[in-house]
Amino acid sequence: MQVHSFLVPWLLFVFFSTVDSYFGYGLIRCQFDSRREVVYLEQLFFNKVFVGQFNSTLGKYEGNTEKTQKIADELNKSEGFLKQAMKNKKNCEANRELIYDVFLKPVEPSVTLRSVEAASGSHPGMLVCSAYNFYPKNIKLTWLRNGHEVSSDVTTTEELSNGNWLYQIHSQLEVIPSPGEKILCMVEHASLMQPKLYEWDSLTQADRNKIAVGTAGLVLGLVFVVGGLIFYKMKKKGHQPVPTSPRPH
Ligand SMILES: *[C@@H]1O[C@H](CO)[C@@H](O)[C@H](O)[C@H]1NC(C)=O
Repeated sequence: MQVHSFLVPWLLFVFFSTVDSYFGYGLIRCQFDSRREVVYLEQLFFNKVFVGQFNSTLGKYEGNTEKTQKIADELNKSEGFLKQAMKNKKNCEANRELIYDVFLKPVEPSVTLRSVEAASGSHPGMLVCSAYNFYPKNIKLTWLRNGHEVSSDVTTTEELSNGNWLYQIHSQLEVIPSPGEKILCMVEHASLMQPKLYEWDSLTQADRNKIAVGTAGLVLGLVFVVGGLIFYKMKKKGHQPVPTSPRPH
């Protein structure tokens, strides 16, 4: 982007001024917003004070003080400046798609589903469904209990900004899942072609280990029982029972 010649006298003044407490700077930028509108701005600051700007929405320069308004009026009279500024705006627009492609692509949330211990005796049990690092902001979390949407006993936070264009959200459901019950957290978001379901699994890893050990023990026991039975049967077949001789009286 070109620095306009109207800035040059200012910059010369700023850099070569003998008073060392003056500080001025110009800011030229393309401003993009989520409605895909582009604003081209040239802003000038002097000792941190905003003195004037070109704003492409207005299509002209404007001063913030009486003095700078006079300068702005002069600039607005000269066709060259306005033409160049509008050309720069076109440049911003030419890069718009690239900007939106890079920065406004939906990012899929990573979702976790966990249970939290009741903080006080009054809460029976709580499941928390958390979605992290998604973009854009709009998202919907829904609890499904045995296929039906649960709306009571649900508390959901707002979409919380991470400060890096990504968001997180947390939803909790007060519930004591009974065995065999199916509890799901359903996530709907622009990054997903269809709603994504996350199932609550009441078994922890420790439970799983216990079940595995128990099952192994049971199988081992069965092997011994069956082996013993086979051995017993074979033995019975191999040895014909000896007729009992009458015992002497
Ligand atoms: C540019 O002008 C438009 C229209 O008046 C205004 O809404 C917008 O806030 C201006 N932008 C800046 C940075 O002054």
